[in-house]
This record gives sequence, C-alpha cells and structure tokens, in this order.
Amino acid sequence: MAEKVWGGRFKEGTDEALERFNASLPFDRRLYAQDIEGSRAHCRMLAKQGIIREEEASRMMEALSEILIELEKKDTAPELPYEDIHTLVERKLVEKVGPLGEKLHTGRSRNDQVALDTRMYVRDAIKRVIALIGDMQSALVELAEKHIDFIVPGYTHLQRAQPVLLGHHFLAYYEMLSRDRARYEESMKRVRIMPLGSAALAGTTFKLDRQMVARELGFETVSANSMDAVSDRDFVLEFLFGSSVLMMHLSRLSEELILWSTMEFGFVSLPDAFCTGSSIMPQKKNPDLLELVRGKTGRVYGHLMALFTTMKGLPLTYNKDMQEDKEGLFDTVDTVEQSLLLMSRLLSGVSFHKEAMSNAVDHGYLVATDLADYLVTKGVTFRQAHEVVGRMVLSALERGVELHELTLDEMKGFWQDIEEDVYAWLDPIACIDRRNIMGGTGRSLVKVALAKAREDMKAR
Ligand code: ARG
Repeated sequence: MAEKVWGGRFKEGTDEALERFNASLPFDRRLYAQDIEGSRAHCRMLAKQGIIREEEASRMMEALSEILIELEKKDTAPELPYEDIHTLVERKLVEKVGPLGEKLHTGRSRNDQVALDTRMYVRDAIKRVIALIGDMQSALVELAEKHIDFIVPGYTHLQRAQPVLLGHHFLAYYEMLSRDRARYEESMKRVRIMPLGSAALAGTTFKLDRQMVARELGFETVSANSMDAVSDRDFVLEFLFGSSVLMMHLSRLSEELILWSTMEFGFVSLPDAFCTGSSIMPQKKNPDLLELVRGKTGRVYGHLMALFTTMKGLPLTYNKDMQEDKEGLFDTVDTVEQSLLLMSRLLSGVSFHKEAMSNAVDHGYLVATDLADYLVTKGVTFRQAHEVVGRMVLSALERGVELHELTLDEMKGFWQDIEEDVYAWLDPIACIDRRNIMGGTGRSLVKVALAKAREDMKAR
C-alpha cells in the first residue's frame, strides 16, 4: 500500500487484509471529477483568503487539471492502491508539484470533502435522471397520441372492469413520472448545501470563505452546523427513496407490458431489439428487458434499506460505516439511468393490436356499470340498479351472451322501464365518452390532458 496520509502516529504497518477491506478507491474513484472540482474551488479560495500564495494556487490548479485528464483516461496504468479517491488525488498532486501539494488540505478534512463530493455527485445524477424521465414521458405521450382511438379494458384485481382509452392508461404513467421528477427536484434544495469548512467535525481555525466555495461550485447555501454536515447522509437516502418509487413505477409498467405481450392477452408485440430467445425452445421471444427492470427494482429497494440500517445507530459525527453509502448509491444511479433509457427506447418500438384490445373490451360485461347508471337515469336507486344488472349479468353469463345481445323484451323482464335507448349506453366508446369528468377517460378530456402534457414538457 502506498504511504498513508495519517502514518505519523502509527508504529506498525496496516494489516494487508484490512488495507483491502478499508479501501474505497475501487468504487469511489467514480467521484474523481467532483473531488477535483471541489479541490480546485478550495484552492482558489485558500489563495483569495491569503492562506496560500496566488502563485502556489496557480501551480496547484494547473496540476489538478492535468490530474483530471489523467483520471478521465479509462486505460490508465494501475494506480497505487491508495485508500480512497481523496488520497489518490492529493498524492498525484504531490507527485506533480512536490510538498506544496500538501497545502491543499489546509482547513479541510476528508470528512467534509467526501460529503461535498457525494453531494455534487448526487446533484449531477439528479439532473441526468430528470432528463431521462422527460424522455420517457415524451415516449409515453407519443404512444398515447399515436393510438388515440385505441380502447382497452381497464382492470381492477386484474379482472376486466371498464373500457378506457389506451392513451388514458399511458397518461397514468406520465403522471407517476411527473411526481417522480418533482420528488428529485424537491430534494435538490437539500442536496445543494455546501459542507466544506466543517473540516473534520467542528469547523476550522482558518478563515475560509465558505460562501465563495459554495458560489463557485453552484451550491445554494452553506451548511449551518459542522457536525451535521459531516455526519448525515439523508440526502443520499432521499435519492434512494425517490429512485425506489420511480423503479416501482417502471416495474409496474414492465409487468403490464409483459402480461400484455403474452399470447393470453395478445395486446402488444415488443420490439425484437429488446427481447431475447431461448436456447432450447425455438419459438420463444422473451421480454428480458422488462423482466430485468422489474427484477432490478428489488436491488434499489435493498440499497435504501441497507443505508437506512447503516445510519440508524451511528453516533455523531463521521464514522467509517458511512463509506458504505457509495456502492448502493452508484448502483442505484446506474440502474435507474439504464432502466429509463432502455424502457423509453422499447416504448417507441412497441406495436399495439387494436383488434385484440377491442375484442377484450367487448367480452366480460365491462359496460355493466353503465347499464346500472342508465337505470339510475330512469329513477332507480343505484343500489337497486346494481342488483338488477347483477342478475342480468348472471343470466347473460349462463347463456353465454353479452349484455347488448339481450333483446329489449328480455331486458324488460329484469326491469320494466328499460327502453330502446339502453343500447346506446352499452357501446364501449360511448361508455368512455360519458366519463366526461376531470381526470376521466372521456376522449375530449384525454386530448386536453395530452395537450397539457405537451405544454408542460415544452415549458421545462
Ligand atoms: N473513503 C471515506 C468515505 O467514503 C472518506 C472519508 C474518510 N474519512 C476518514 N476520516 N477516514 O467515507
């Protein structure tokens, strides 16, 4: 192991197995850009405050830019096994500018440094995730628009319930994603709190200009309590929670598309590019992407639970347990980004089978509620209407016919006041349009909802 940044107090070397156990560089190397950007802001501020000389600062700034380029290269020679990314950057700096590089850490601790880097990383991740959510929302709106005259059974308990527009179904996911987006946006104000200046835990004796660092790094505020700033990871938890909810939404959509693409439903065909085959059954086309999104939702929930559990017993302030925040966070970012990206692309290539959907709408008494509503217009109480239509459904079921296939005389046998106009109430598209209430599936409302979605997306 390379030389320690804390070696002075130690007589013996570190156990080799502990070095590996302790090191976070294999995963926190991912924070290199944030670490260097934060270091550069700290460096400029140290010079402005007269803590280091301008000339020293410019040498360090130049070296830090070089280090950034070096670390960006994927094929860099194996790095010395430094403890973490902060140590690696500092050591590389010392290699370049000599002992001067050690001045960079003035008034700073890895404790506030790692809090800063992680906050910057989460902030950048949120921006990317929000953009990807926007892309997926566009894909949903496009699907809804393209299939504006497609009707599909709406389900409860996975039993056919009432007809809805396919577009209404997709706009439901649009709404979920809008809230997901809002959750990330809302959490931003708690992410953009600048912790540098907190140092190890108590603040520092140096006259740092914390506001300047915050401004340079695009943070809104500086942290108000040094102990809090180095010891909480609630902003990571919020990210994991928001991501868990988002993944839950993607998982439910995945589940529906998996079901709808079965032969039993036959509502959709998935694009070949997002499916795979079987090594033994030549006829198979499996919805792997959607299954993986559904499956990976579990690991994101797991990361949320893991970090909750890690944090719950920690005394103030920093504890090494908190190093465990990173792998789950990084894995969540990767999972969420890939899921959104791939699902948006899959959505653009899905084809819907209008016949199969409308055939499903025509079977299973989906218009029974409307028949009950019809009776209510004839002065029957809804409870009684429900009872009468229930008996009509039972009798139709026994005879293997649908409600609209009953003759007027047969209907009158159940309720004398039923007239010829009843048949207009049993047409699925009329059932849809009759739900002409804010938030309902009526065609004109769905068109308004689509226009509003388009406008909202443009306004972003
Ligand atoms: N690698 C550490 C982490 O991710 C950085 C902070 C280490 N601080 C310390 N005092 N050992 O949490």
